Amino acid sequence: MNVEMEERTPRPEKIVVVGLGYIGLPTAAALAVGGHVVVGVDLNEATVESVARGQVPFVEPDLQETLAQAISLGRLTTSTTIPPADVYILAVPTPYLEDHTADLSYVEAASRQVAAACRGGELVILESTCPPGATQFVADVFSETRPDLAVNNENSSSAMQFVHCPERVLPGRIMIEIKTNARIIGGLTTSAAERAKRIYESFCSGPIRLTDAKTAEMAKLVENSFRDVNIAFANELSLICETLKINVWELIELANQHPRVNILQPGPGVGGHCIAVDPWFIVASDPINSNLIRTAREVNDRKPAFVVQQLMNAVEEKAVPVVAILGLAFKANIDDLRESPAVEILRRALDVVPGIEFYVAEPHISTLPHDLVNEGRVELVETAVALDKSNIVVALVDHDEFQMISTDDLSGKTLIDSKGIFNNLVPAV
Ligand SMILES: NC(=O)c1ccc[n+]([C@@H]2O[C@H](COP(=O)([O-])OP(=O)(O)OC[C@H]3O[C@@H](n4cnc5c(N)ncnc54)[C@H](O)[C@@H]3O)[C@@H](O)[C@H]2O)c1
Repeated sequence: MNVEMEERTPRPEKIVVVGLGYIGLPTAAALAVGGHVVVGVDLNEATVESVARGQVPFVEPDLQETLAQAISLGRLTTSTTIPPADVYILAVPTPYLEDHTADLSYVEAASRQVAAACRGGELVILESTCPPGATQFVADVFSETRPDLAVNNENSSSAMQFVHCPERVLPGRIMIEIKTNARIIGGLTTSAAERAKRIYESFCSGPIRLTDAKTAEMAKLVENSFRDVNIAFANELSLICETLKINVWELIELANQHPRVNILQPGPGVGGHCIAVDPWFIVASDPINSNLIRTAREVNDRKPAFVVQQLMNAVEEKAVPVVAILGLAFKANIDDLRESPAVEILRRALDVVPGIEFYVAEPHISTLPHDLVNEGRVELVETAVALDKSNIVVALVDHDEFQMISTDDLSGKTLIDSKGIFNNLVPAV
């Protein structure tokens, strides 16, 4: 595999990857194993030290092995400052601001630092998920910081080149998908896109399509908006079905029998840092024409409040309500609580139903977030304990472990099932 990768690398380049998070570190390791000489740069000293020791500072299957290989080949080193190189890849965060516009401050700061190290002729690849126009913004930051360097001139070998290459990997499968997914490279110039393609060919076996920078930026946002809009349709159906007293899970299963219908599953909301964020970048870019995309975001963002209302209704019917919360992660079978609707639901519930105990079953974590511990009314327990202690059960994540719950475990309890996991209960033995 490595031999094959090296054969496909026409000329090893010196590449600096800025930001060693979920995206930057796998990319740096894959590039090094693919034959390039890579320096991974991060502001966080603990991250840099950990990576230098060959230790991945977060959970991602198979990354540990690739990192160890990259380091033992002597092709991946780390730094807290940006050294000279041929190619720079920016993989820094792009959160959104309160008004839902993209916060490009990390991209801007990283661009200024890279610009300071450049000598002319380098290729800058923006991998961070960004609104349309961000690659041009990076080029503009370079022009401003380094007016001595030519930018985007197809006829000059010493001109700086800029592309956007969005990342589509799924956490938990990053090391597979980083090699096999199709990639889009959008250049501010054609020669920049062609040069970047040669870099990605060193570790990507998927098709690599070239386009302009703005189309590439938009493609990533559109992919996640497509998912968001389709989830919003399912979530809206779940609200309508509550009014009409119809089982939404059965309804969707029946409708999906149609050969050209494929409705997604409803849930407690949309979490994570991509699907719940990226559509806002489109809305901010063209607020007048993005009604459907904005409405989908709003529908999905309203779902946690709906689940909390269901819980409040259930609480009113019990003399001594005790609540089991099944799941806190933002999706099934992972430990990631970031931007999780389940966590939001628990936090809101603590506010609106005072004095009630919550028993949380989250098999993928060993400690609760501090603010929940500090509440004193929330205890992290085994699933069986949560079910045993409670008379109201709120299912928020479809972890495999919860699929093993039996009808007996739930007998006499009020069920709030935001993921449809109680539709196929295991009969008691
Ligand atoms: N995580 C995903 O699943 C995923 C998938 C596709 C796209 N993306 C996008 O990729 C980008 C990076 O996301 P991530 O999940 O890797 O973020 P992350 O928070 O895991 O990592 C970002 C890293 O950048 C570092 N950093 C910030 N500014 C820096 C600077 N000026 N110099 C050096 N290091 C700096 C931070 O210390 C951090 O370690 C974002 O735009 C995100 O939207 C993420």
